[in-house]
Amino acid sequence: MRSLLLDFLKVTESAAVAAIPWVGSGDKIAADAAATNSMRENLNKMKMHSTIVIGEGEIDEAPMLYIGEKLGKGGSHEVDIAVDPIEGTTPTVNGQGNAITVIAAAPKGTLLHAPDMYMKKLAVGPRAKGKIDIDAPIEENLKAVANAIGKDVKELNVLIQDRPRHKEYIDRIRKAGAKVRLFHDGDVIYATATCIENFDVDMFFGIGGAPEGVLGAAAVRCQGGEMQAKLLPRNDDEIRRCHEMGITNIENVLTQNDLVSTDDCVFVATGITDNLIVNGIQTEHENYITHSILVNGMDKQVRYVKSTYPILQTV
Ligand code: FBP
Repeated sequence: MRSLLLDFLKVTESAAVAAIPWVGSGDKIAADAAATNSMRENLNKMKMHSTIVIGEGEIDEAPMLYIGEKLGKGGSHEVDIAVDPIEGTTPTVNGQGNAITVIAAAPKGTLLHAPDMYMKKLAVGPRAKGKIDIDAPIEENLKAVANAIGKDVKELNVLIQDRPRHKEYIDRIRKAGAKVRLFHDGDVIYATATCIENFDVDMFFGIGGAPEGVLGAAAVRCQGGEMQAKLLPRNDDEIRRCHEMGITNIENVLTQNDLVSTDDCVFVATGITDNLIVNGIQTEHENYITHSILVNGMDKQVRYVKSTYPILQTV
């Protein structure tokens, strides 16, 4: 996977640049189409046999980057790919922070094939790896994480998406003494941030999209942390889609290994708008400046890359 990292970087950078004209436009469909189109074009130029396992939807609902779509020019690499051309479509078109374009990749058969539905997620950094249990009460997880990282529960920062469905958890976490930091969109950003020491994000918790769950799990595994999850189908159709994707015991905990079963994975994200882990695209003279984070699971190394794209070539 390591040898494909720079090609994946080009894919996310180009998709972020493609989304720029739509920042603040109010047009979610056009923004998503621009980033998706760019991503697909660049993935198709790569020397690999790849299959989209987390994408823009199932074949009947997504014209591009649909689940099961084969991409690449061929070669010796057999790769599974998870993409979100715009993670944070609403903040993108509202001209707000917290939008990235993101890819995770791993050898064929090693990423969970998850349907687009809600998923409960709990992620921590490397020092608390092995100490969490998504089935245990949140208060117990707080104590376990605090012990593991040498903090008092009162000193913990828990990142949760600002949604009414999280009210009970937010109240319980605050009652236990920990601090809750709410964010509006982009839970891949906050799962990733649990593993980056200087952000002081001790835990990411909550219910969000399952596709974003697999992307976040890849970022966490690549950095040596841990994520656990549970799928939350809301009706018979969602249950059927789980079964179709090979998930039979839907109520089981999805361990880090179920989500991403190898260290040989890579995670790349480029900022569209400013967020905790990377800056958004900036304009400098005649250029766009992109900011990306690259993580390679084999050496657990995080790299930050700043690149320049001449504006004239991108319009
Ligand atoms: P998009 O990639 O579809 O823009 O999702 C943004 C996001 O905030 C995800 O990070 C999160 O998992 C999901 O939305 C939560 O969904 P909802 O908006 O229904 O609460």
